[in-house]
Amino acid sequence: MRPFGMNSFAGKRLLALVRGEDYAHAGEEEAIDRVFENLPKRSGQWLLDVGCGRGGTANYVRRGGWGRVVGIDRDGDSLAYARSRYPEVVFAAGDVCEVRRLVSQRFALVYMFNAFYAFEAQREALAALRQVAEEGAGLRIFDYLDRGGLRHNPLIVNGRRIIPHPIERESISGTLEATGWKLVSAEDLHQEYGRWYASLLSRIEARASEIVAVGGEEALDQLRAVYRGILSKIEQGLLGGVLLSSVAVDPC
Ligand SMILES: C[S@@+](CC[C@H](N)C(=O)[O-])C[C@H]1O[C@@H](n2cnc3c(N)ncnc32)[C@H](O)[C@@H]1O
Repeated sequence: MRPFGMNSFAGKRLLALVRGEDYAHAGEEEAIDRVFENLPKRSGQWLLDVGCGRGGTANYVRRGGWGRVVGIDRDGDSLAYARSRYPEVVFAAGDVCEVRRLVSQRFALVYMFNAFYAFEAQREALAALRQVAEEGAGLRIFDYLDRGGLRHNPLIVNGRRIIPHPIERESISGTLEATGWKLVSAEDLHQEYGRWYASLLSRIEARASEIVAVGGEEALDQLRAVYRGILSKIEQGLLGGVLLSSVAVDPC
């Protein structure tokens, strides 16, 4: 198998194998429960899962009773898989910046799990998402945080920057405000990210032979390089995790 991006269909399929479910984010169900713990469950409301990948998170949220869920992602192959595996979730294929064209609903909650860091146009994405949000809607961004050194010392594997656009503490509040979102809280998850990635690495080793059977030795080497690299950046204090909670306001 040639080197692949962790956000590609092949990358997410291997991650699902290691994680045992259709998740490509740190902490799997523990992380979802953490993000949703104080959010109201209302069967009539619509929730938007942005960068939903293979759809496992969207389906977990739907099954948990938080509401009806739409997932969007620009990876058409993963969405085709998600549609067939989770027919009770609505899926739409396309770029987040095109979300207004992709969905007809208005959302009480917009959320993302390890997707925002991959957006090349984060400001445009937030502005587009504001347009499909109800008045007073919530926004939850669960993602990587640059703790102050990653920009100058990025993680690169096989020539690819692994976490291209982590959240930056100094600028995120202003970016949210300019696009119609008010930051309410930012909860650090550095310790949890360390624990979750250490656990993921153990699971990669435990399933090494299955990974090789699916993707060959190169796939195993690549998974090890990416996730050892992420854990090392976390342990050096350069990288961490954060949960941002925001509400929709009028853009300034
Ligand atoms: C690390 S995966 C996380 C997937 C999912 N949230 C989960 O937790 O399993 C990031 C996802 O973001 C999607 N993505 C990246 N950039 C995007 C964009 N501009 N518009 C829509 N989706 C995007 C990728 O295709 C990928 O499926």
